[in-house]
Amino acid sequence: MQHTEKLFKGKTVAILSGGGDTPAINSSIENIRNRALILGFKVYGIRQGWKGLLGEGDIVDLTNQPYNGAYGGTALCSSRTNPFPSEKNPEDRVPQIVANLKRYKIDVLITIGGDDTNGAAKRLYEREGIPVIGFPKTIDNDLRTRTIHTYQGKEIEAVLCPGYPTAALRVSEMARHLRSTNESHQRIMVLEVMGRDAGWLTGSAVFGGAELALVPEYEMTAERKERFFNVVKEKYQEKKNLIIAVSEGVRWWDEASQKLSMVYASSETDEYGHPRFGGVSGVIASEISNRLGISARSQISGYYPRSGYCCDYDKLLTSTLADKVLDLLLREDYGKMPVMNKMVPKEQVEEYNTSTIDMGCIGNRPLQDEYYDTDNFVFTDAYVNFLSNILGKPYLPEFGYKFAKVNPDML
Ligand code: F6P
Repeated sequence: MQHTEKLFKGKTVAILSGGGDTPAINSSIENIRNRALILGFKVYGIRQGWKGLLGEGDIVDLTNQPYNGAYGGTALCSSRTNPFPSEKNPEDRVPQIVANLKRYKIDVLITIGGDDTNGAAKRLYEREGIPVIGFPKTIDNDLRTRTIHTYQGKEIEAVLCPGYPTAALRVSEMARHLRSTNESHQRIMVLEVMGRDAGWLTGSAVFGGAELALVPEYEMTAERKERFFNVVKEKYQEKKNLIIAVSEGVRWWDEASQKLSMVYASSETDEYGHPRFGGVSGVIASEISNRLGISARSQISGYYPRSGYCCDYDKLLTSTLADKVLDLLLREDYGKMPVMNKMVPKEQVEEYNTSTIDMGCIGNRPLQDEYYDTDNFVFTDAYVNFLSNILGKPYLPEFGYKFAKVNPDML
């Protein structure tokens, strides 16, 4: 222990978190911080993502501070600041960032983020030679991690990002809870879930009983919409209430404009050019009511899946991936990001199941075809098997009553 402490004594690691928060970021920070301390590093936190490296810098010392990793969000705060020129901000901020890394004597930068934050980190590593280690994070679960899921002997390239397990748990609980109000009113509930470009998180509603799902990967063209309404009608006749999970980024055929459209919460875009989605569930629910004459409501899960305490799977995942960070730090091996190489249940979330991917391969990974049945608008058994590693079996309570009907003629 003493030997390794001396090894990196006098060196500094700085951690930042960028993009949308998740319930697992504080856990990631705590675990990375603890591993870096073991090696003798001083550990800094950069506040508000890349923003904390602009101007005078906004850097805090985490070295001997208490840190509650179970609490959701990020105590370092986050932003969607882009170091590189963008439509929204044409300024190249890289010189400021490089200058601050020098000024604060930061030797290694660890970036907790999705495609945007880690994509920028990769460019800083490649362009400026900054020693960077990426760390995955997103509730959308669409940052490529090359995690292999073996299902019925077939290897599927899946994704496993810290934050997704807790968010998936929340979405599944929300769907499950909505069931009772839905059953009471014999309604269709359209449950909207975050996910601009990928439906990984939307699929978790299946674990709370959602019967149907729409995801951004498969556009709802005019023809597919027709088929969808038929499926909804059939299913409703059978069950008398339905939950339909939809991703916020679903591309939905708009009758008025005769085009595929997306529903935005505002006209703003961030510095990475992303719009803010929200409201497609309302559009779908009202079209269902109008077309089928069935009572339908919409419910946006919004920020709820992103909020609150971090679940046990995420705690283990972040601690295991942090073990891999320790390994990278020890070997001074930069430009990499730790990942799980296999989709495994909680008991096997261990360092022997991790590997790294080159930050050069940073990118998005939408749902694989194996996970979604485009004809029936449902997630497949392969997806259920994938997510059962995290959530166990789907739990689907229903009204259990079979009351005998009273016939006044028999009285
Ligand atoms: O980080 C990704 C995400 O969770 C998306 O699913 C969502 O569209 C976005 O964040 C919303 O983030 P915010 O409103 O915080 O910018």
